Amino acid sequence: MNREQAWAIVVEHVQSDSLRKHMQSVEIAMRAYAAHYGEDPESWGLVGLLHDFDWEIHPTLEQHPMDGAPILRERGLDEEDIRTILSHGPMAERVTVRDKALYAVDELTGLITAITLVRPSKNIADVTVKSIRKKWKDKAFAAGVDREDIEKGTAALGVDLWEFHVPMVLSAMQARAADLGLDGQAAS
Ligand SMILES: [Fe+2]
Ligand SMILES: [Fe+2]
Repeated sequence: MNREQAWAIVVEHVQSDSLRKHMQSVEIAMRAYAAHYGEDPESWGLVGLLHDFDWEIHPTLEQHPMDGAPILRERGLDEEDIRTILSHGPMAERVTVRDKALYAVDELTGLITAITLVRPSKNIADVTVKSIRKKWKDKAFAAGVDREDIEKGTAALGVDLWEFHVPMVLSAMQARAADLGLDGQAAS
């Protein structure tokens, strides 16, 4: 499956612009991690782009992401890519570095997006690691983002949260700000 085919699956199943952007953010972070580890950015990006494709049709953790697997299989996605997508579920086992990277970046991209969109500029260029750290400690902010999950995911991946992981994901998203709608275009 190529990116164009994966995007068609996203567009078909996901109507929410913010969910589409979330999946693009995870794709971008996964591509950055693939480059870091010398792995294939296409397949790493693909699992990021598709990981929540079934959330609107399977909006509970009893269904998502498990019930999406047959659809992806029917569309011709590789079994190993399907397995990685399934591994981001809360109870799933994360085996490969790619599985661990997907889990570690998933919620962090959401936090970075939320931090960008509360700034008057709505521009991710204005977001710093320091500002993320501040909001990280403010548990009432983006309360749905489980900080502990990100910490556990980062530890499982074997990278330092503040020295490596957060700067890495932030800079990857900053480099694609316009595609993510985080370049200030949302400012009124
Ligand atoms: Fe998910
Ligand atoms: Fe996600």
